[in-house]
Amino acid sequence: MSETQPTASAAPTATAPRGDAVLSTIDLVGGYLPGVNILNGCSIDAYPGELIGIIGPNGAGKSTVLKAIFGQIKIRGGSVMLKGEDITGLRADKLVAKGVGLVPQNNNVFPSLTIEENLEMGLFLRPKVFNERFEFVADLFPELGKRRKQRASSLSGGERQMVAMARALMMDPSVLLLDEPSAGLSPVRQDETFLRVRQINRAGVSVIMVEQNARRCLQICDRAYVLDQGKDAYTGTGRELLNDPKVIALYLGTLAADEQAKDGDTAH
Ligand SMILES: Nc1ncnc2c1ncn2[C@@H]1O[C@H](COP(=O)(O)OP(=O)(O)OP(=O)(O)O)[C@@H](O)[C@H]1O
Ligand SMILES: [Mg+2]
Repeated sequence: MSETQPTASAAPTATAPRGDAVLSTIDLVGGYLPGVNILNGCSIDAYPGELIGIIGPNGAGKSTVLKAIFGQIKIRGGSVMLKGEDITGLRADKLVAKGVGLVPQNNNVFPSLTIEENLEMGLFLRPKVFNERFEFVADLFPELGKRRKQRASSLSGGERQMVAMARALMMDPSVLLLDEPSAGLSPVRQDETFLRVRQINRAGVSVIMVEQNARRCLQICDRAYVLDQGKDAYTGTGRELLNDPKVIALYLGTLAADEQAKDGDTAH
């Protein structure tokens, strides 16, 4: 991890751009409808090799910030920087070519296509390197490699999520944006998904992951941001935020208690 990382603190983040971040949003302002901003000055940094978590209440703008990075909403202020280059508002295909991948929460596979065809779609810009990338991805997701001819429509939610992640990885991204990878999955599948995310990250991909499972997210991420009303309200290491009384009271409260109770139930 970079030695120049900001000192983690449960206080509003500084908004000055930091040069060695792989991806930064700086004071992002934007939304969907004219005159209505959903993001109200959102600043997030991901340093090379980091796994960054974004948590926060429903409607806080978590998905919106990923969409803003990926050029899918109107940005009215601030900027998005990729390794020092201003990529604000660039189209998704340009961003993919520059090494940014997004796995949206829903509709993230082509159901009528096979696993292999889905992965080919991920590589539409560089078909020649399919075999090389397929090997890398099949190493991370062996079950997909074995079932490459199976149609995505016949896969479970968790398996589709794996295909979607694998597809984004086919382009060899330097930053992967994940929107709620564990949503709708059983606890066992959730754990498996988090493990895969960690593996992807350890393979050298910086990850920005939005998660509704806040406690689990904080347990595995390097640093995290709590988003509230379109702004980064708190930041720190996962451990710091897990133990921050304000964050617990405001954002983890019952969820943390529920999760702890669940852990207690299933502990052997
Ligand atoms: N396509 C859209 N058009 C208009 N408003 C939208 C659109 N998508 C989202 N919004 C609004 O933007 C706000 C933030 O939505 P967003 O999806 O970013 O929240 P979120 O933090 O991801 O919430 P959740 O935890 O429920 O996924 C919400 O008030 C939502 O109604
Ligand atoms: Mg969302």
